[in-house]
Amino acid sequence: MEPIKESKVIGVATPRIDGPLKVSGAAMYASDHHFPGMVYAWPVCATIASGKVTGLDTAAAEKMTGVVAVYHRGNIGKLYRVPPATGFSMIIDEKRPPFEDDVIRYYGQYVAVVVAQTMEQAHAAAESVKVTYEKEKPVMGGKLLESKLTTDKPEEKSKRGDTAAALKAAKIKVDQVYTMQVETHNPIELHASVAVYDGKKYTLYETSQAVVNHRDVMAAMLGVPPEDVQVITRFLGSGFGGKLWPWPHGILAASCARNLKRPVKLVVSRQMMFQNVGHRPAIDQRIQLATDADGKLTAVQHDYVNHTSILDDHDEGCGEITPFIYSTPNLLVTGGLVRRNVGNPTAMRGPGAVPGLYALESAMNELAVQLKMDPVQLRLKNEPAMDESLGIPFSSRHMKECLTVGAEKFGWSRRTPEVGSMKRDGLTLGSGVAACSWIAARSETEATVELLQDGRARVTCGTQDIGGGTYTAIAQVVSHETGLPLKKIDVVLGDSALPPGPISGGSWVTASITPASLQAAQNAGKTLLLAAVKSDGSPFKDKKPDDLEFVDGMVRLKGQTQGAIPMEEILRIAKTNAVSGKGKSEGTLGGKPKLSFHSYGAQFAEVTWQPEIARLRVSRVVTVIDAGRMLNPPAARNQIEGAVMMGVGMALFEETMYDPRTGAPINNNLADYVVAVNADTPDIDVTFLDYPDYELNALGARGVGEIGLAGIAAAITGAVYHATGVHVRDLPVRIEDLLAPAGKSMHVA
Ligand code: MOS
Repeated sequence: MEPIKESKVIGVATPRIDGPLKVSGAAMYASDHHFPGMVYAWPVCATIASGKVTGLDTAAAEKMTGVVAVYHRGNIGKLYRVPPATGFSMIIDEKRPPFEDDVIRYYGQYVAVVVAQTMEQAHAAAESVKVTYEKEKPVMGGKLLESKLTTDKPEEKSKRGDTAAALKAAKIKVDQVYTMQVETHNPIELHASVAVYDGKKYTLYETSQAVVNHRDVMAAMLGVPPEDVQVITRFLGSGFGGKLWPWPHGILAASCARNLKRPVKLVVSRQMMFQNVGHRPAIDQRIQLATDADGKLTAVQHDYVNHTSILDDHDEGCGEITPFIYSTPNLLVTGGLVRRNVGNPTAMRGPGAVPGLYALESAMNELAVQLKMDPVQLRLKNEPAMDESLGIPFSSRHMKECLTVGAEKFGWSRRTPEVGSMKRDGLTLGSGVAACSWIAARSETEATVELLQDGRARVTCGTQDIGGGTYTAIAQVVSHETGLPLKKIDVVLGDSALPPGPISGGSWVTASITPASLQAAQNAGKTLLLAAVKSDGSPFKDKKPDDLEFVDGMVRLKGQTQGAIPMEEILRIAKTNAVSGKGKSEGTLGGKPKLSFHSYGAQFAEVTWQPEIARLRVSRVVTVIDAGRMLNPPAARNQIEGAVMMGVGMALFEETMYDPRTGAPINNNLADYVVAVNADTPDIDVTFLDYPDYELNALGARGVGEIGLAGIAAAITGAVYHATGVHVRDLPVRIEDLLAPAGKSMHVA
């Protein structure tokens, strides 16, 4: 497809078209759905993290007011495993349905589910189910790099040159371990399922980042063909990756509906969110860097180990960015997994890259300190000319410009590198920097555009809008192609019955859906021109379609505004209600790529430090992002701002704590699990370089859901060092880390 350079709508600030529905409360989220005769399900959660269920006494619960049924392993009915190797990963406890055996592998695992007339009745009865266990001591915590792996040795992820020899020979080296605690996704919308079963077909109202995959998993587990399952997610109250793959509550709701032949609603509580629906795993990473005297990297080694659950093999992939972000002749990345009695970890915003860059960029900052070199210069010095890991060119990479523009905007040249040397209003200032990157990709996508006699266009795609502006981006593309105003374009998403669309993951929805909807709109336009030349009574009858064009919602002779006919008039003459066109975008993932597709960025953070009261704040962040062309700049900026906030949380607050005796997450609520809120939000300056990546699609658009988080934590810990002199290598940064650790001065001026 020809690159699209000029546009009246693409790249223009566009308020979200779904905004009014959301702010007026008309947008229907999963748990907003109500049906006559609906009953409520509440799971019974294991109170041990390892062992066996030896008894389940439901008698008391069954007698309680409003209780309709109690289901467990003995009576839930037939459920099936998901066959391996079907498309994307389908994570429910290693593709198993709930209640498959009596083994307890993590705290909170579902052992039964109570259905009652009201949610409160179901909740109360669930707490009255008496479960007896044979307990074992759960395996929790511990140093991951020193724990037994699931494999004999760490897996080699990327390798070039002779890293061991280069590290040995080097005089200037950094060799540090960086650790991160578990982070839990806390989208404001809880996970929820409303399941409706009519005796044959299941209609499942879910909060899913991937409706098509969700349908396939549910169909496999229920043992019915995919056409008997329809998954609907019109809106999400975000997900951060936690809603990419189905979790056991969805299949519980569906099987309760099947058993009772009544609609069933199951809402996962905030507490359960900390145990049953994924988290970013605990991760230990060892980074070894070596340079020559001028700061040119000679070797990079990145070894990571993340925890996973007893049944699942979640590989966080922390070394994803390391092989291509810098130039180095010698490189080794390895990864390993360690089993713990925790629920399954899963993708969380920027999986792999975000934790990986925290470690790598922290080590780069430490290297700069050791070299007495400016950390921006160190990165500029190691800019590669190509993707050295794959030996292929970059599609479009402007990392250097991200760094130099960011340095300029931040005022980096005024920075004095000595620890604690900068002050403002009685506060000690610290500043830090990090580079970042995230994959750019398209996944296979189909879309349909219909042009209708009422003058409207309707676009459909089986993707969903996680909240970032997918509805709006698609409307912009169709508006661009058809010339119809946004208010005349209906975008229909969030239904597995629609043409299959991408997962709302990997930041690749925009890159995938825009070319597919553009092509669908073009094809719908072509069909309209065909109607114009073939229909009796059309002023264009017997012209060639090539003589005509569809511009600004009108059909006309090429280049002639005179005699243009509105599309609805053409459809009326043709006696048809609608013409439609299909569009398809091929995937770029898998296979042997010819180009290295990634987005880039530079993060600059400033902290203020008050040693007298041990008060640390992130005061300012400047972020420069090279992520292709921005279709809707304010929506894109929102994504980066939200990600920066999440980065503040990652650096300073977020940590899921488990009781090592029981395996229970103990800060399982929004009071004790601290996320960054408005009061923690620094001034955020977002710049997009806006270089279109026409190699990725005709619009040059990538996606911005994740890159804004990458690098933020390392920029902040770099700033913390600059202010305090303490290299914190275990996230989140705790106040006590900064209180004069043994052998270190606090640099109180
Ligand atoms: Mo994102 S963690 O790929 O939803």
